Amino acid sequence: MTDDRPLLLEVEDLRTHLPLDEGILKAVDGVSFQIRRGRTLGVVGESGCGKSMTVLSIMRIAPLYAETSGKVLLYREPGGAPVDLVSMDPHGAEIRAIRGSEIAIIFQEPMTSFSPLHTIGNQIMEAILLHRTSDKKLARGIAIDMLGRVGISNPSQRINEYPYQLSGGMRQRAMIAMALSCEPSLLIADEPTTALDVTVQAQVLKLMRDLQAEFGMSILYITHDLGVIARMVDEVAVMYLGQVVEYADTDSLFYDPKHPYTQALLKSIPKIGKRSKKRLESVQGSVPIPINKPVGCGFYPRCPAAMDGLCNVINPPLVTVADGHKSACFLYPEVVQAANASLPEGVQHGQS
Ligand SMILES: Nc1ncnc2c1ncn2[C@@H]1O[C@H](COP(=O)(O)OP(=O)(O)O)[C@@H](O)[C@H]1O
Ligand SMILES: [Mg+2]
Repeated sequence: MTDDRPLLLEVEDLRTHLPLDEGILKAVDGVSFQIRRGRTLGVVGESGCGKSMTVLSIMRIAPLYAETSGKVLLYREPGGAPVDLVSMDPHGAEIRAIRGSEIAIIFQEPMTSFSPLHTIGNQIMEAILLHRTSDKKLARGIAIDMLGRVGISNPSQRINEYPYQLSGGMRQRAMIAMALSCEPSLLIADEPTTALDVTVQAQVLKLMRDLQAEFGMSILYITHDLGVIARMVDEVAVMYLGQVVEYADTDSLFYDPKHPYTQALLKSIPKIGKRSKKRLESVQGSVPIPINKPVGCGFYPRCPAAMDGLCNVINPPLVTVADGHKSACFLYPEVVQAANASLPEGVQHGQS
């Protein structure tokens, strides 16, 4: 599977470690992925896997005491040289010019993005005035237009309303309008529909797809919900304990999952017609807090296929195991080989 669209974002070995009294919390621990222009990448994993910290790190809005390393390369011009967001001062003018204009983010709870004290319109206009134009009348026009495009009726009246006056679904639409009003090349959506009921969720997902077709932006879509992944994204990175454990196009991931964690997640999707209360009943236990992480695979304690003496000794690297399909699991000889090759000479296995 080849995709010749130009790269927009390349995340390389991103790490965000939080030094706490109890030890170093490795919230993001060597994450790599790519997003091409106009494409959607999904990042999926249970709560606590490091999805939000990954996007906060990309935007450089992780907690102040966090230590972020690796690269976040943004190709501002198609085919041009990238800039590295990790090398930027998180408070500097450079990253502030990118945040909100080239990269916009929407969260699960719009109330945290909107101030309750100002009208929706003023807040959207503020973003437009900061990044697009200094003409207030024009900014208001753009804001009204965007509110209309996200399906808010009577936008020239609604623009004067306060966030609390809108329903959850309408607030989420208004937040999308604010995010898109500066025509970002990348929209990051962190569980944007999790708090919404199923019908509204479906509407918001459709809206995002329609807006992507119209504006051509890339989307980085974060969710714990594989059902949403199936409907929304071109490629998927499955995260576990701060790492990407499987990376594939969406069809391959669903039809031929190659990591026991992904396989367990897929088994836990409720079948249509059957109501399942226990979301992840097929995955034993829950995601541990990544303080003083043991060596070896993070999924080892919960894995039905774990191999003692291997999986708890060496952390499997993320390696291509089929066409365009990567897995970080020692079930695949390619992964064993790659781990072997990275050991210092003299301690490599299988050489006698
Ligand atoms: N501000 C913080 N301070 C300390 N630990 C945090 C903070 N934010 C998140 N964490 C921890 O980092 C890990 C990853 O969290 P997060 O990125 O929010 O996961 P997800 O979005 O996948 O649910 C979790 O173990 C969480 O407890
Ligand atoms: Mg989260």
